Amino acid sequence: MLGNFVYCNPTKVYFGKTALEGLRKELPKYGKNVLFIYGGGSIKKNGIYDAVLKILKECGKNVYEDAGVMPNPTSEKLMDGCRRARECKADLLLAVGGGSVIDYAKGVSVSAYCKEDPWTKYYLNMEAPDNQLIPVGAVLTMVGTGSEMNGGSVITNHEQKLKIGHVFGEEVFPKFACLNPEYTYTLPQYQMVAGFYDIMCHILEQYLSGTDDNTSDYVMEGLMRSLIHSSLIALKDPKNYEARSNIMWTATWALNTFVAMGKTTDWEVHMLGQAVGAYTDATHGMTLSAVSMAYYHHILPYGLAKFARFAVNVWGVNAEGKTEKQVAEEGLSRMADWMRTLGLVMDLKTLGVTPDMIEGIADATYIMKGGYKILDRKDVVSILKESL
Ligand code: NZQ
Ligand code: ZN
Repeated sequence: MLGNFVYCNPTKVYFGKTALEGLRKELPKYGKNVLFIYGGGSIKKNGIYDAVLKILKECGKNVYEDAGVMPNPTSEKLMDGCRRARECKADLLLAVGGGSVIDYAKGVSVSAYCKEDPWTKYYLNMEAPDNQLIPVGAVLTMVGTGSEMNGGSVITNHEQKLKIGHVFGEEVFPKFACLNPEYTYTLPQYQMVAGFYDIMCHILEQYLSGTDDNTSDYVMEGLMRSLIHSSLIALKDPKNYEARSNIMWTATWALNTFVAMGKTTDWEVHMLGQAVGAYTDATHGMTLSAVSMAYYHHILPYGLAKFARFAVNVWGVNAEGKTEKQVAEEGLSRMADWMRTLGLVMDLKTLGVTPDMIEGIADATYIMKGGYKILDRKDVVSILKESL
């Protein structure tokens, strides 16, 4: 391991069937006014809304609501949330939902009392907050992003056709997160598997980088094996608690900063996926699955040894009598089979991308420097065309 680092993750996690009891323990630490933030209404259908509200009331809170946070939350909605948070003088932002709701709550946390335009300050200029923050707590209902235990906040600006994530510091991480795997049972299959791929992709963004012998790579191989195993069980039996709980916890560890310590990372698939998302508003995990195979095949020659290690240690490829390239390619082919088995979207056309959008999506794709090949614009265009 080569890097120096300081590690701290301040989020307190309550995990399991009684996780929501954690909310009761946490609420007394905050003032009376709680802004209850949620999405398009799934929590009203599956009973999570009622369960959360009951605890808020029993704990004597003044409850204000901010509903309708959309998947891929927008900069416009963010401004609406800031106004609501100021109006009710929120002491706590309680995000109940998936990555979109939690990311949005973090955006409101840093923006409600920001004197400048939050989109420009945080998402375009990547500045750190220097104003009063409102604490965020989370109840997770969709698994994948890791937002429950990290500082990420991804916001979409439709006018500018940009989707950008700011990774805030530990002061913006949720103070607590309640993770009950049973809360994910009502997810439509499309969302469930999109989340599975988001987890895989988060791990690969951090695994497929660097050539040093690094503890994190061994940890990530274990996380990926657990994910592959449990995902196939959950696909057939979505209410399998063991599988859903393993996946939920794997997702959290895939992106709670731990495996990135002392390590270079890539994140180019996310840059491609986010640009696709800015143009299509498609489900995050599917924007990643649609571009992944073209991207990984494109960079494979530059990271051959790691791709071969991935094939053997994660996909169980037998390397005997094969060249490193053959082993590496067999690993990717097994991964593609797994993706197809899950029913992931493997091309951009299905997400609504048309050939005339390619140049614009390429313009909106940020180039990262930590992968096995630093892409140029020609590479980006060719990966996007191949993914069509
Ligand atoms: O809005 P409701 O009605 O709740 O429906 C949601 C939404 O339509 C539904 N859903 C969530 N929980 C459910 C449920 N439906 C039934 N039962 C449940 N228990 O699922 C849909 C998708 O939810 P969303 O929150 O959008 O999904 P996800 O968790 O994948 O979040 C996606 C957002 O997170 C960002 C993405 O870019 C995207 O904007 N990301 C955040 C990251 C971070 N904070 O570190 C990293 C990720 O790479 C990602 O970029
Ligand atoms: Zn992601």
